[in-house]
Amino acid sequence: MATKINFSSKFIVILVIFMVMFSIQAKADDHQLRETRLSGYFHDYSSVGPNATTGPVVGFPGKLWRYDQFGTIYVFDDPMTEGPEPTSPKLGRVQGIAVTVSLNGLNAHISGSLVFTNEAYNGSTIQILGVDNQFNVIGEYGVTSGTGKFRYATGYVTWEILSFDPSISYALFRVNATIRH
Ligand SMILES: *[C@@H]1O[C@H](CO)[C@@H](O)[C@H](O)[C@H]1NC(C)=O
Ligand SMILES: *[C@@H]1O[C@H](CO)[C@@H](O)[C@H](O)[C@H]1NC(C)=O
Ligand SMILES: *[C@@H]1O[C@H](CO)[C@@H](O)[C@H](O)[C@H]1NC(C)=O
Repeated sequence: MATKINFSSKFIVILVIFMVMFSIQAKADDHQLRETRLSGYFHDYSSVGPNATTGPVVGFPGKLWRYDQFGTIYVFDDPMTEGPEPTSPKLGRVQGIAVTVSLNGLNAHISGSLVFTNEAYNGSTIQILGVDNQFNVIGEYGVTSGTGKFRYATGYVTWEILSFDPSISYALFRVNATIRH
């Protein structure tokens, strides 16, 4: 009799352990990744002056602080909108740093965020990281994480230069993000 009770209580302990394991497993599986695609435009003003949204911060001593000079660090805070016109409804900002990281001045490392302030994603961010040839019309960077509605995000963004007006140092970009989260 004693052995029998012992056996059945052991059995119950094992059963409970299994049930706990399966319920943890089931909970982890609840989070199905979904794919979200977003498109927007950002406006980059590189002129020196009160309206500049980007500029070089520092570079090697004795060298020009330019985007095509190895070692130059830029910071940017560009408005991001739904459409290509600067007056189009706001999506947020594209904020970060760009560093010219190849000796030949071609590749820029980007570390930045899409910072949303529109109604749908207000307060959420998408983190962008990577390196690409900054002279290509289309650049591609990784999405490493996100916050708010984009927690656990992974994926990629492309940004594409659509026009440049040298008279006011204004560049218009389209950004597309494809993320799973
Ligand atoms: C800065 O932007 C304001 C508002 O758009 C504009 O009135 C002003 O002329 C601009 N200043 C310069 C130096 O571009
Ligand atoms: C976004 O959130 C901020 C702070 O909570 C709030 O002040 C602002 O009105 C919100 N904007 C939109 C478009 O909902
Ligand atoms: C970005 O998305 C738009 C449509 O939303 C598409 O027309 C365009 O080709 C895309 N750009 C890139 C570089 O994939």
